[in-house]
Formats: sequence, structure tokens, C-alpha cells
Amino acid sequence: MTPFDTIIAGGTIATSSDTFRADIGIRDGRIAALGLDLGDAAETIDASGLLVLPGGIDSHVHISQPSGEGVTMADDFESATRSAAFGGMTTLLPFCLQAKGQGLRDAVSWYHGLAEGNCYTDVSFHLIVTDPTPQTLNQDLPALVEDGYTSLKVFMTYEGMKLTDREILDTLEAAKACGALPMVHAENDDAIEYLRDRAADQGDTAPKFHASTRPIPAEREATHRAIALAEIVDVPIMIVHVSNGDAISEIEAGRARGSVVHAETCPQYLVLTADDLDTAGFDGAKYVCSPPPRDTDSQIACWSGIERGVFDVFSSDHCPFRYDDAEGKKHPQGLRSFRWVPNGIPGVETSLPILFSEGVGKGRIDLNRFVALSSTNHAKMYGLYPRKGTIAVGSDADIVLWDPNRSEVLRQEILHHGADYTPYEGIAVTGWPVHTMLRGKTIVADGELRADKGVGAYQRRARSGEALTV
Ligand code: URP
Ligand code: ZN
Ligand code: ZN
Repeated sequence: MTPFDTIIAGGTIATSSDTFRADIGIRDGRIAALGLDLGDAAETIDASGLLVLPGGIDSHVHISQPSGEGVTMADDFESATRSAAFGGMTTLLPFCLQAKGQGLRDAVSWYHGLAEGNCYTDVSFHLIVTDPTPQTLNQDLPALVEDGYTSLKVFMTYEGMKLTDREILDTLEAAKACGALPMVHAENDDAIEYLRDRAADQGDTAPKFHASTRPIPAEREATHRAIALAEIVDVPIMIVHVSNGDAISEIEAGRARGSVVHAETCPQYLVLTADDLDTAGFDGAKYVCSPPPRDTDSQIACWSGIERGVFDVFSSDHCPFRYDDAEGKKHPQGLRSFRWVPNGIPGVETSLPILFSEGVGKGRIDLNRFVALSSTNHAKMYGLYPRKGTIAVGSDADIVLWDPNRSEVLRQEILHHGADYTPYEGIAVTGWPVHTMLRGKTIVADGELRADKGVGAYQRRARSGEALTV
């Protein structure tokens, strides 16, 4: 019997702290050895000329999430995780959305039912609290956190999902009591509704008005308020999908006061702008997401935040809807006004090539920071480290080989998601994930799917604070 199932030989390994030449010996789905001349294995993968990185972790994705009457998300767990594996991801953290009146446990069971047996990557779930009843906060939430659902999202906007400040305070207190990490979608809903009504008065219905009615001050104010509410409760928070410099300043100000404020940004805030929504016809709907893409100053501010270490994690906020589809962006009501265009864009497959190319390739961040932003920090933040997020003896062999010199043009025809478009169409990237392994098993290689659905499994998580701090 050979000592290893697989050896990955001849590559350059990078973790969030080090870059070094070594081979990796894999046994029973885990990394069993790092070194040179490891001996024999049933299978040897030649990684010469390639980078050997921990599998990407995307901690902000929406899959099969109910999105309103007559609207259907473009991805189920099969297509989303397939697409993710092609994009260099090995673990996704989708949300379990609690409907008003629904028990949190029921919501979780529903998503488990959809995911079970259908995934190509591992998955773990965040909760979304929309109905913070005493039962939800005092009974269901603590029990679920104990069971490994150790993070929750609250919305400050969206009809039917937003919480009042009082409800947010109560939810933050409950999260603190049971050790869950709260994630906040920070936009001022009243300001947005005011601007939407003004837009309606003027007959402004085109997709571009989605961006102008969700302006930077609405995000800045809500970011400030979310941090203040967390300070009052004295609980760490994560501000998700930060889009601009004003919001970054609020995060830095909160940290300067001593608050524990974590932050996430996404590719749409680095390579898209509001101009993308301002196209002839209805095409701008392809870019409708919240917060909306901003302007070049905001892109520069987000890059600066990445370079200066303001952002802990980089996620896609994959929230896919088909464009040419009455259950997607072209929902009959959406065609009437931007207000009803399904909110969200696909991106789980393109996220890491964009960060690699624009970040590492253009010298904005080094390879180790790329690994931190795309994998290690997600694992640490959400209680998966060191099982996930690194290349170390004992860790799961979630490994992605990257060809740093391979150039591609992002376009719909090369992607594997369920959407019928990519908002990143035509963007040229250099650096491409060419081989994805999940717990030692090849999922994608040579541009082909090499595993059956169901290879991905649910991952129970520790509390954020129980993992090592970022
Ligand atoms: O537009 C977006 N981001 N849709 C997904 C829901 C959310 O707010 O994360
Ligand atoms: Zn959000
Ligand atoms: Zn989201």
C-alpha cells in the first residue's frame, strides 16, 4: 500500500503567510505531509509551473433563496456549487432566509433539503433573521448556534426583511449571548424609499435609477448606525458588501473607537460602476444589486481598503437571476420599474479570477493577501479554521491549482452558473484556477467536471471567536 492517496508535486504553495516550494501528500481527504521526496502515491498530480492554494471560500452567496412572487433564482445548489468549483472555490456559505412567521429551524431544514446530495463544494449556512420574535431570539437562535450555525445576517433595508433599530438591538444582544457573529446589510431604507418615491413622481423607471436612489449617504448613514448599535450592545459585527470610501471611513472610525468591526467587499465594487446600469434599453438590469456599483473614486477607495487591510474578506455576493426571463430580471413588474427588478448578480465563478488578476496581477496585493482574502480569513471569521482555509498537515485537502499566466476573457459562454449572462462580460483576466480538489478528490480539472454531485458536504462550524482571530 502506498503511503498517500495523492501527491501534488512540483508546485509553489502559498498560504496567508508564506510562499514555498513543497509537495503535498494527501491521505483520506486530508493533508498528511508537506515536504520534498514524499515517496509513492496512488496518484501524482504534476503542479510544476502552478500555484497551489487553499480552496477558495465564498462566505456570501445566495442559493435558491425565495425572492418574491414569480421570481426564481438562477442557481440551485447543484449549479451554484458547480460554478463555484470551476471558479476555484471549495466551500460556500449561503444564507438560510427566515420568512416572516417562519421558525428559524424550519428555514434551516428547508435549505438542507435543497443542498443534500446536490453539492460539488462543501457548504455551511448563515442564518437571516427577519422575524426576531422571543422564540426566534431566545430559543431557536441559541440552539442553532450550538448546532453550528454560528453567524446571522440582518437587513436594514428591503421590505419584508428589514429590521427596525430596536429589533436590530435585540438581535445583536441575542447574538452576543450565544456567540453568533452578526452580519449587517447597511443601507438606510427610509432614505431609499423617499428617493424611490421622488423617482416615481418624475417617471424615472429605468434600471439606472436603482443606483441613484440608493446613494452613498444611505449606505454611509446605515453603516454608522449599525456600528453604533453594535457598540451599544458591545458585540462584534461584520459589515457586508461595502461599496465606497465613506462606508470604509465609518468602519475605520468605529475601529479607532475600539469596536470590533469586520468588513467585506465584493468584485462588483472593484470593476463595475453605476454607469453599467445606465445603458440603452433594459440592459442595465443586469447590474442591479444592492448596494449598487458606485464610481471610480469608490473603486479606488475599495482597492485602498483591500491594500490597507480594512477588509477581512472578499466575497461574491452571488445572487443570480436570469436576464432574459420573466422569472428573472425581465419580470413583468421589473420591466415597468427598476423598483421591481430582482436584486442581485451572479459572480461566484468570476470573483477569484478578478481578485487575482486585478489584485495580484496588477501588484495591488501579494499572493499571501490574496489567500487571506479569498480563503483563510473566511475560515477564521466563520469558525472553519484550521479544517478549512489553509494548507497545513491535518487540514482538509481543499486545494486549488492556479495557472498564474493563463489569460482568459470573462464571458458567459465559458461559465457554469445557471444565469444567462455575466455582469463581468469582456473583462480580461490573467491567472486562472485549473484544478479544484475537495477533501482530496478532484472536482474540476482541464476545464471539465470530474466528480458527481453530492461530493460536497455540509460543514458544521465553530463559533467565530473559537476559531483563531483574523
Ligand atoms: O443585491 C444583492 N446584494 N442581493 C442579495 C441580497 C443582499 O442584500 O445581499
Ligand atoms: Zn445584503
Ligand atoms: Zn447578499
